[in-house]
Amino acid sequence: MYETEAERDTGGTAAGEEASDRDSGERPVERRSFLNALLFGAVSLLTMYGAYAVGRYLWPPRGETAGGELGQVEAGTEDEFPVGAGKKVLYRGEPVWVIHAPFGFVALSAVCTHLGCIVEYDPQKEIWCPCHAAFFDLRGNVKSGPAPSPLPSYPVGIVGGKVVVGEL
Ligand code: FES
Repeated sequence: MYETEAERDTGGTAAGEEASDRDSGERPVERRSFLNALLFGAVSLLTMYGAYAVGRYLWPPRGETAGGELGQVEAGTEDEFPVGAGKKVLYRGEPVWVIHAPFGFVALSAVCTHLGCIVEYDPQKEIWCPCHAAFFDLRGNVKSGPAPSPLPSYPVGIVGGKVVVGEL
């Protein structure tokens, strides 16, 4: 009926488990404290990781190279960029709009110079910031709104039929 000798000695009841805990020197309170500390540690790690991920999204790192050895990034083939087309790429860790404007290709930082929101591009509206309604022309100059300075621009050109951002 009893599976172990300890159960037989104690009658196989809760009293037997208490006796077993006393024998092993462990106390239920210590186990509970340990589990609470483990849970607290896991929740703390998850919270820190979440804060880090949100921080990387809101303030993308600058100075990293997202492209090849020369720090160049391919935005796509020339055929994918009829006049008016635009595509957002990551260049040196920063979002950049590559746009085929009527006067040629431009690569403009997508980070608004007001408070750092990511600007949007639409061939009809040109470039605008959804946060406080700053508008920019296709050369990055401020047309209206609170942005204090133009969007920084980067070198862009065609290499082997591909639109490339970076020093050529
Ligand atoms: S952050 Fe772009 S207008 Fe304010």
